[in-house]
Amino acid sequence: MPEPHTRTVVVLAAGEGKRMKSSLPKVLHPLLGRTLVGHVLNAADPLDAARTLVVVGHGADQVRVHLAGTAPAATALHQAEQLGTGHAVRIALEAAPEVTGTVVVLNGDVPLLRPETVVELVTAHESEGAAATVLAAEVPDPTGLGRIVRDAAGRLEQIVEQRDATPDQLAVREINAGIYAFDAARLRDVLGKLSTDNDQGEEYLTDVFKMLVSAGEPVGVHLAADHTETLGCNDRVELAALRRLLRDRVNERWMRAGVSLLDPETTWIDVTVALDRDAVVDQNTQLCGGSVVGSGAVVGPDVTLIDTVVGPGATVLRSHAVGAEVGPGASVGPYAYLRPDARLAERSKVGTFVEVKNSEIGVGSKVPHLTYVGDATIGEQSNIGAASVFVNYDGVRKHRTVIGSHARTGADNMFVAPVRVGDGAYTAAGSVIIEDVPSGAMGVARARQRNIDGWVLKRRAGTAAAEAAERALRGAQGAPAAASSASEGEAIHGTAESVGGAPGAGDTATE
Ligand code: UD1
Ligand code: MG
Repeated sequence: MPEPHTRTVVVLAAGEGKRMKSSLPKVLHPLLGRTLVGHVLNAADPLDAARTLVVVGHGADQVRVHLAGTAPAATALHQAEQLGTGHAVRIALEAAPEVTGTVVVLNGDVPLLRPETVVELVTAHESEGAAATVLAAEVPDPTGLGRIVRDAAGRLEQIVEQRDATPDQLAVREINAGIYAFDAARLRDVLGKLSTDNDQGEEYLTDVFKMLVSAGEPVGVHLAADHTETLGCNDRVELAALRRLLRDRVNERWMRAGVSLLDPETTWIDVTVALDRDAVVDQNTQLCGGSVVGSGAVVGPDVTLIDTVVGPGATVLRSHAVGAEVGPGASVGPYAYLRPDARLAERSKVGTFVEVKNSEIGVGSKVPHLTYVGDATIGEQSNIGAASVFVNYDGVRKHRTVIGSHARTGADNMFVAPVRVGDGAYTAAGSVIIEDVPSGAMGVARARQRNIDGWVLKRRAGTAAAEAAERALRGAQGAPAAASSASEGEAIHGTAESVGGAPGAGDTATE
């Protein structure tokens, strides 16, 4: 067995990407779950490189911060002036004199590259003992790209940039993908001799091939089976096209793995998302970041999940969720907003126009309508009445509300935290709960109702309301209403039912 080659990965990420017209460095633009440079680093991952060097320059501080967070094993090397791809590799190798073996160079703006393709390129390069091997592709439109120029025998002669090419060379549709494997020693030899004698006055890495060929060194071309892998990103139109291609690739993979995508063209799944067999994703749905959708769960239509875990058999309909957990068989939406640390246990429900933040909703508990649940713990099998607010913020600090199990809270409650409602307790509709409600108690906290009889007939005489009231009263009493005789003083009293604000039937009836 020959010694395995030591490998070093060099990613070129110093360019400004002028055509992006962006304050964000080009390689940091996001594409379905990773940045452009993140995709490239991921493609190089299976090489098991001893070192990964990333050449940074434009927006170097931002790129360094990003690398520290996402690829801490990579070393950023600074290219102060962007004098060309050859110059960038020269800087990298000068900063790492210990590098020997295979040097794999990847442009930082080729995000659709597959790991398998990089491995094939490097394996071919190493097994052939080549001095340099370039990844090439046959493309329908080579405009703007470096052309692979071969001699009469079909051997690589040189790589020529679009702007330096002759009309014959421009007709070539075989292009340089910007991904290469080099023998470190032979690369070092020629890097120091690169000229800037070209249309851009830059040191072109691609010139290394011409120089090695004329020195009689063996160079190779590895053709990518799928040319879309080699597409670069130079402006936002290209970025959008890459996003569609990657979407289709990701979606196809999930469908083949047993996930139903009802409308793949409007389904956008980050490469970092995981889906189980028999998950169903309906149209206009974005699944982002570390989101996971369990088996048999139905997500969509019109759902965005960011870093959200949806358990098996759960449903999420027309909703937005960030950093949330939806338990097995739970139901969310339509029109729910789950915020970080919303944790919905098994078979729980968060219904229509409900917002939940930093709260646990216990097994089988329901928050069906028009409610804000913030900083709360709700036990099992409880029901929260419609239009309630968990009042968690005193203007300075946040406080928690705790609702027990099998509780029934009335519609239109305010839970002014910190406050507790015990197991099996009820609260009356329209209550502002500022004190704990013991287990099994009914908490009532609202003003008494008073009815001023005949008020409309007197104060709004002649209106449709007054006429309707008159008809109703006549019908009820079988006699004309005595509107003129009612005075406000006489009419002010409460009915027996409303005195004391005691809860009646329907107080908690918003299940
Ligand atoms: C390059 C190739 C071209 C190939 C194409 C594939 C050269 C001379 N040309 O052209 O043959 O078809 O990629 O996409 O290499 N960079 C630096 N420092 C620099 C210059 C560039 O780090 O001084 C980085 C850029 O950030 C980018 C990568 O190198 O990630 C490629 O540079 P770019 O300017 O996009 O080269 P192309 O014109 O696309
Ligand atoms: Mg480019």
